[in-house]
Amino acid sequence: MAAVGSAVGLGNVWRFPYVAYTSGGGAFLIPYFVALLTAGIPMLILEMGIGQRMQKGAPLAFGAIRKPLQWFGWWAAGLSAGIVIYYSTILAWSWVYLWHSLTQAWGDQPHTFFYQDVLQRSQSPGQVGWPVLSLVIGMALTWLTIYLILRKGVRSVSKVVMVTVPLPLILLAILLIRGLSLPGAMDGIRYYLTPDFSRLTDPKIWLAAYGQIFFSLSLASGVMIGYGSYLGKKAEITNSAFITGLANCGTSFFSGFVVFSMLGYLAQAQGVDVKDVAETSTGLAFVTFPTAISKLPALNALFGVVFFVALLTLGIDSAFALQEAFTTGFHDKWHIPPEKLARVFVLVAFPVSLLFVTRGGFYWFDIVDNWICNFGLVISGLIQCIIVGYLYGVREFRDYLNGQSEIRLGNWWIWALRYVTPVVLLVILVGNLKAEITEAYEGYPRWATLVGGWGTILFWAVLGYFLWKRRARSDQAQGE
Ligand code: PHE
Repeated sequence: MAAVGSAVGLGNVWRFPYVAYTSGGGAFLIPYFVALLTAGIPMLILEMGIGQRMQKGAPLAFGAIRKPLQWFGWWAAGLSAGIVIYYSTILAWSWVYLWHSLTQAWGDQPHTFFYQDVLQRSQSPGQVGWPVLSLVIGMALTWLTIYLILRKGVRSVSKVVMVTVPLPLILLAILLIRGLSLPGAMDGIRYYLTPDFSRLTDPKIWLAAYGQIFFSLSLASGVMIGYGSYLGKKAEITNSAFITGLANCGTSFFSGFVVFSMLGYLAQAQGVDVKDVAETSTGLAFVTFPTAISKLPALNALFGVVFFVALLTLGIDSAFALQEAFTTGFHDKWHIPPEKLARVFVLVAFPVSLLFVTRGGFYWFDIVDNWICNFGLVISGLIQCIIVGYLYGVREFRDYLNGQSEIRLGNWWIWALRYVTPVVLLVILVGNLKAEITEAYEGYPRWATLVGGWGTILFWAVLGYFLWKRRARSDQAQGE
């Protein structure tokens, strides 16, 4: 349940439907399921399996394979700490919008409202300015929630996910029923799903499918390794990985109906084409959806609240999973109790995260997000495949997993880890690097992407080095 909670996040709602729509509509489901079966689920099995077998989070689990690999484990887990620090920004915006949805404060200028009134965005990343008060409150609420959930450790997490996993699904279902009963909804859904099979010959579509699967399943960030480590010695892995993968992708597919039924309605209400209202990511959640909510015939505030509570509950379990992926290493290595870990992490992360709610914060958010996802996680996934596929003894590992599970893994699993996934990740990485070298991301100044992008990735590598080198508690033999 917790693994599903981590996987099912904002990406399912604001990224998948748009990627599907721009990548061949219904035909996109083919590369998407191929990616799920040849990379997503095999990697999930790998990560949950390593965690469960070693009974340790990413740092010590990799350290148990080869000692210096503990450094890699800390780096990967550090990326997840990096993610939660900026991911919290989206939750802070959602809190603020939850409040504004009571009055639909965005009026008929939702775009201006988001960027000028809520974010108070400056002209460039260099103009940082002070944090915006309402967002600071949203941020504080976010971190307080994370602290309260994590302070009692795994036990409270397993209770919380009983709410944060089903609740957003119910809320999305409510929005879907409302959406489908509106005029124009079917046009939206037609846009979403009309298959364009000719697109399947374009390699970019395939890369988009793998990229989406990778981010959506929370891979390569140490999250699934951490969650695997909480499973008992006898727990079976393969089944859980299949369930997690399928539940996540099912939710994405379902979210597409919610999003596109609303977009279809909005397009009709505004007398434009669906493709002119379809936006991805922040634009979808904080500009397009608010517009659609204001245009509803009745109960606007209620549907606004439903939507933003759905976003908050979708995001919160991804957020605390990320924090846990990092802090679990401290628990494994130095036996620090969960309450202290949660407290210290939040006390450090909260002030740092305020950078992202300054007036220039949006740009830094964008840069850090792009670098961690498009470089950090891709590199981490690649290294992980190489370690397990070539160093660890993958056949013996498969036999171990088969001994634990009803579903038996064949050679396809080894193929997926040794060849398919690393090759795809390498191609994605080279493509991203090429794009970055030829053109500065979003036209940001180079110093900003150097500091915020490469700087972030390097920072976790340096910190990871010190954490690796620091002695474990003496009653522990492993780890060093
Ligand atoms: N899977 C989450 C989503 O779809 C994002 C995420 C990535 C969460 C990596 C944890 C780790 O929104």
